[in-house]
Amino acid sequence: MKTLLTALLGIEHPIIQAGMGGGANAEIAAAVSNAGALGSLSSIAMPPEMVRAHIAETRALTEKPFAVNMVTWAFTSNWQEIIDTVIEERPPVVTISFGDPIPAFQRCKAAGLTTILQVQDTAGLKAAIEAGADAIIVQGNEAGGHTGRRSTLSFATQALELAGDIPIVVAGGIANGRGLAAALAMGAAGVVMGTRFKATNEFVGQQVHKQAIVASDGGDTLYDEINDIARGSLWPNRVTGRAIRNAFTAEWEGRAAELGAAVAQQTPRGFATARMADPDHQPNWGGEISGIITEVIPAAEVVQRTVSEAEALLRKLSAIQ
Ligand SMILES: Cc1cc2nc3c(=O)[nH]c(=O)nc-3n(C[C@H](O)[C@H](O)[C@H](O)COP(=O)(O)O)c2cc1C
Repeated sequence: MKTLLTALLGIEHPIIQAGMGGGANAEIAAAVSNAGALGSLSSIAMPPEMVRAHIAETRALTEKPFAVNMVTWAFTSNWQEIIDTVIEERPPVVTISFGDPIPAFQRCKAAGLTTILQVQDTAGLKAAIEAGADAIIVQGNEAGGHTGRRSTLSFATQALELAGDIPIVVAGGIANGRGLAAALAMGAAGVVMGTRFKATNEFVGQQVHKQAIVASDGGDTLYDEINDIARGSLWPNRVTGRAIRNAFTAEWEGRAAELGAAVAQQTPRGFATARMADPDHQPNWGGEISGIITEVIPAAEVVQRTVSEAEALLRKLSAIQ
């Protein structure tokens, strides 16, 4: 499957594993890259030495291209240092999302890095086109983790109409060959998958969270600020997190103001720290496509299955008269 994305990145399959805060480390990034797609490391809220260590470890595990994902707003006070560190380390690919990604994008481009922007709304899309992103990931609302309010299908269609020669990569609601085939059929150059790669052996995360994704019917996710309010981190540009419902959301859904007051009464991050002791009270970021994820499998198998399913579907499609 050769697309503009595979040519740009020097990869075999047009699939990017999302940089996922907390769990996308060297093991999953290298497994995905070794399987011919693009693995990604996360960097959000990490000490810069840890970012460096993860990049070095990934380089030791694969000779293939991989990405480092950066989140460009003050999620933690060291966010600018993380950007400096990533630029110094010169990974093969950088993906940037959230806040105002353009200043970091310009720095990465000036340093000669292949730089992809993930966007959540039309203003972000137009800014990414204007800035000359190497590729643009359009992220729909059904995505797991933090995302905007646009639906994947209409947002991707709009991006394809506007972006000219810039490769468009679709994110949000894709976890198998059907999603990949659909994206390629509409003219996109590839896909990003997050939730599907969270439910893999390599992703560093609570087993109960992976099992909750497997158990999900796709209708039990919640797009709501309460998970962020509990951690004292409200995201910019109308971006909110989507997570699988759990004991925490059962307790606080619809009570954002009360939750805010409870958090304010505790020492900084005290509420979040107490909450983090119990996995069923931690945010289990995951998207609506959880409904088709039925097992935790190796990351390489996700790549192989997705590609072979998509190839079979696209062959059928090309046979339609
Ligand atoms: C557990 C999890 C953590 C995420 N963390 C990040 C992150 O740190 N940076 C980022 O740009 N996107 C993050 N995302 C969003 C992904 O980049 C991607 O857009 C999304 O997962 C695609 O939708 P899907 O989950 O339906 O595949 C995260 C997604 C998940 C599921």
